[in-house]
Amino acid sequence: MSSWAPLLAFLLGLLLSIAEGNHYEGHWLGQPCLPGQPCVLAFISNNPVVLRCPRSSYRGHITWQYLDPSWTDEQPLTFLRSGGTSWPLFSHDKLQRLRFKSRLIAGTGSLYISSPSREDSGLYTCRAGDATLAYYEVDFQDAERLHVSHAELGEASLGNVTVPLDQGAQATLFTSWSPWQSCNRCGHPGERKQVGFCYAQLTTMDSEGEMPMPCGMARQKYPTLPQRGPELRIETCQVRCVTSYLAGQEEPHWVPFLVFTNYHPQLKATAHLRCPASSIYR
Ligand SMILES: *[C@@H]1O[C@H](CO)[C@@H](O)[C@H](O)[C@H]1NC(C)=O
Repeated sequence: MSSWAPLLAFLLGLLLSIAEGNHYEGHWLGQPCLPGQPCVLAFISNNPVVLRCPRSSYRGHITWQYLDPSWTDEQPLTFLRSGGTSWPLFSHDKLQRLRFKSRLIAGTGSLYISSPSREDSGLYTCRAGDATLAYYEVDFQDAERLHVSHAELGEASLGNVTVPLDQGAQATLFTSWSPWQSCNRCGHPGERKQVGFCYAQLTTMDSEGEMPMPCGMARQKYPTLPQRGPELRIETCQVRCVTSYLAGQEEPHWVPFLVFTNYHPQLKATAHLRCPASSIYR
């Protein structure tokens, strides 16, 4: 046992540094997410995400609350509390599942969700006592509907789609792109990726141009909107191996951690294999 302890500590340290290292904090359109302001964020389901809690000087307990927009007449309900190690019984199974797959990032009060599903979309608030420190409306867009297009193969990304709604209103579904990620290698041709999120621009007869909102939220309001998922755009790139490139790469050309495990799925059953620490955002 004693000879294993240092190795185990080392591996755990690595695992934590991976889990803590590359946080994706969401895509917003319009106003940036400022502390104290409601913030509308889009993410892609099944990929780890972080919701920040700007706790600044507050030293007491932090709670995270959740509200599903389809729960009518309910208040946001607590599913995670700093300092709380107990597993209370929740009034909704969903809160139990959220509790199970999320944790607080030590020392910050921010919320880490390892593998959010589309159904986890909704309202998230970070609270300290009676004060709301952060307020997020979150849309987890369906990773299984991801539209992948390779620029070099001449594949197109999704175009704008405009559909009529009731009473002369209409909606335009479009993709809002996040910045290009850095090239995955230097000195040789490589690849870079760009993630895009589905947004809907609603125009009604009386109100001109509301702020666009993530498609999942728009569909809550207008259930007849067509289904459309997020996007991934890939193109080739070539960059020189200059110091600034290498400094910007967190783990250049180095696979830090490998776990071998045996898994015995049932014959003819559906099996999901997850790659630990993998994310579409990198
Ligand atoms: C798609 O629609 C959005 C929102 O209305 C608009 O900002 C964008 O310019 C449109 N793109 C194209 C290619 O028409």
